[in-house]
Amino acid sequence: MLRSTILKGTLVAAGIAFCSASFAQKGAPMDLGKREYDSNCASCHGADGKGNGPANEFLKRSASDLTTLAKRNGGVFPVARVYQTIEGAGAAHGSREMPIWGRDYQVKAAEYYMDVPYDAEAYVRTRILALVDYLNRLQAK
Ligand code: HEC
Repeated sequence: MLRSTILKGTLVAAGIAFCSASFAQKGAPMDLGKREYDSNCASCHGADGKGNGPANEFLKRSASDLTTLAKRNGGVFPVARVYQTIEGAGAAHGSREMPIWGRDYQVKAAEYYMDVPYDAEAYVRTRILALVDYLNRLQAK
């Protein structure tokens, strides 16, 4: 009886510690677009999107300034073109320095879900759309 009470107490304490740790981590709501940008794009396009990431010195063509996409398109953010550029569908073979994220995310989805059934297209599309949304928020006014 005493042992089970101690055990229960320990479990409750562990539960509280676990919950408060995960609440502390949350803090601000998760920004999937920013997270994906920071881990996949900032190395070339820069943390602020202006195209000055540290990997630039290894590129033949420098990575574009992603804060002027709207400005360079008559003030309209080119959603479809940005989506296609990130996804990489129809990219000419070998002539492109930017990685093909549509393919990369498919591989990541397979690694993430292993043998659990999942919708690869939804995984890829969610991430690309989050990136498009994040880039839209980076546009210079
Ligand atoms: C290895 C470096 C590299 C990485 C990583 C990279 N890019 Fe690029 N990106 C480039 C280069 C270089 C260009 C210029 C066009 C080209 O050569 O393909 C470009 C072009 C673009 C364009 C077209 C810009 C325009 O002016 O039309 C968009 C949009 C873009 N990148 C978004 C992204 C996003 C979003 C990510 C992360 C998921 C990313 N890039 C990751 C190198 C990179």
